[in-house]
Amino acid sequence: MSNVAAEQNTVAVHIENNVAWVKLNRPEKRNCMSPSLNRQMMRVLDELEFNADVGVLVLTGEGTAFSAGMDLKEYFRETEAQGLGATRQAQREAYGWWRRLRWYQKPTIAMVNGWCFGGAYGPLFACDLAFAAEDATFGLSEINWGILPGGGASKVVADLLPMRKAMYHAMLGENIDGVTAAEWGLVNEAIPSAQLKTRVAEVCQVLLDKNPVALKATKDAIRRVKEMTYDNAEDYLVRAQEAANSYDNDGRKEGIKQFIDDKTYKPGLGAYDKSRQGN
Ligand code: ACO
Repeated sequence: MSNVAAEQNTVAVHIENNVAWVKLNRPEKRNCMSPSLNRQMMRVLDELEFNADVGVLVLTGEGTAFSAGMDLKEYFRETEAQGLGATRQAQREAYGWWRRLRWYQKPTIAMVNGWCFGGAYGPLFACDLAFAAEDATFGLSEINWGILPGGGASKVVADLLPMRKAMYHAMLGENIDGVTAAEWGLVNEAIPSAQLKTRVAEVCQVLLDKNPVALKATKDAIRRVKEMTYDNAEDYLVRAQEAANSYDNDGRKEGIKQFIDDKTYKPGLGAYDKSRQGN
């Protein structure tokens, strides 16, 4: 197999009902992230971002792992052996696709099906929503092999968890299951593994029914306002909505009309019918 073909096999994509199911696909290596996988994932994200058949992207793993973190051999040892330039390039490739995912055009969901360690907290956090199997395993194992949780992992737990939990999780290197991850706020919900995909598909359908311009504006707003003062956030949100209006100036007017004039739905109880927009 050529290098390019081998690289392509590290990520599997399946599009069904406007959902792109993107799988880290190195099950024999527990989907740990190698430079090859990181490069391929960026290509896949590029291809899907403005694909009209895709309304939601789900990131998950083939086999027993979501991802066992960075590939200790290919990402750390082999790049380090090539010097600082190779190390920095490997970091850019990994951090690059996680950043891309944090600000992705489409809503994104992490479906954590199994092992989720260290570097995997990067893509986990990058996804807007996260659903885990009850028996998935989460851990910041960095401390167990002698490094700090880098690649954003410390930032992820400091942002998502209360300080004592973040500190305990990072310093003791003890794992938690999906149920505890949900209790701690690392994921939205924990679900029995047999029902995980069905539940995620259900959430995808709800998102697909919403106005896509409003969804992109909303997900960016939630991430951006966290680091703003109240006044700055207020101003940013006015401008963000007005910018969204430049891409879709009819959606919200249709949403108001179907409620106030047509009385065909109630915004408090569900989304307006997008298919009638522009008719
Ligand atoms: N880096 C490199 N190789 C890995 C990694 C990894 N992160 N994770 C698994 N593998 C490889 C193993 O070396 C093994 O390779 P081999 O078949 O050539 O011997 C193969 O994947 C299967 O792994 P096993 O350990 O045999 O699988 P098992 O299901 O028994 O255990 C587990 C799974 C618990 C995930 C274990 O593989 C493990 O502890 N992996 C490392 C997890 C980790 O600490 N990741 C780094 C986090 S820190 C960071 O990302 C910066």
